[in-house]
Amino acid sequence: MGGERSVYTLAEVSEHNNSKDCWLLIDGKVYNVTKFLDDHPGGGDVLLSSTGKDATDDFEDVGHSTGARAMLVDFYVGDIDSTTIPERTKNIPQTQPQINQDNSSGFFVKLLQFLIPLIIFGFAVGIRFYNKSI
Ligand code: HEM
Repeated sequence: MGGERSVYTLAEVSEHNNSKDCWLLIDGKVYNVTKFLDDHPGGGDVLLSSTGKDATDDFEDVGHSTGARAMLVDFYVGDIDSTTIPERTKNIPQTQPQINQDNSSGFFVKLLQFLIPLIIFGFAVGIRFYNKSI
């Protein structure tokens, strides 16, 4: 009864977004890194800028050492209610219009590319025969 609540919504975690009270969400877990802000080798500012969102990508992109990962346990305060996190890698449907949807103009260009050299060649041969016959 009255045990410490350990599942938070993203909105709740997002409230802890300043240098006096800083929580991070990494890999579904919530960490209170307030005391670590001054000691973080990457600086306190980067930690603050990773608040209010799923910071998993930020944390992973740096390539933190196993030592850094082991430190996480010291800051753990609870889990996230995963229904409150927007999907991280949603496939955004391609809404760009297809370029050159009208294929008929493409066909016409190809036809010209084929015909023009043929016509020039025909002219050349024609002139040659014409000159010979004079
Ligand atoms: C509780 C979470 C975190 C812990 C315990 C932590 C711990 C550490 C540790 C121990 C290092 C030294 C290098 C290493 O051992 O990998 C480090 C470096 C670094 N961290 Fe974090 N970190 C945390 C979160 C973050 C986040 C969210 C970011 C956001 C981008 C970040 C950015 C960096 C950067 C940029 C460095 C490199 C500093 C340098 O080499 O100049 N860290 N972190």
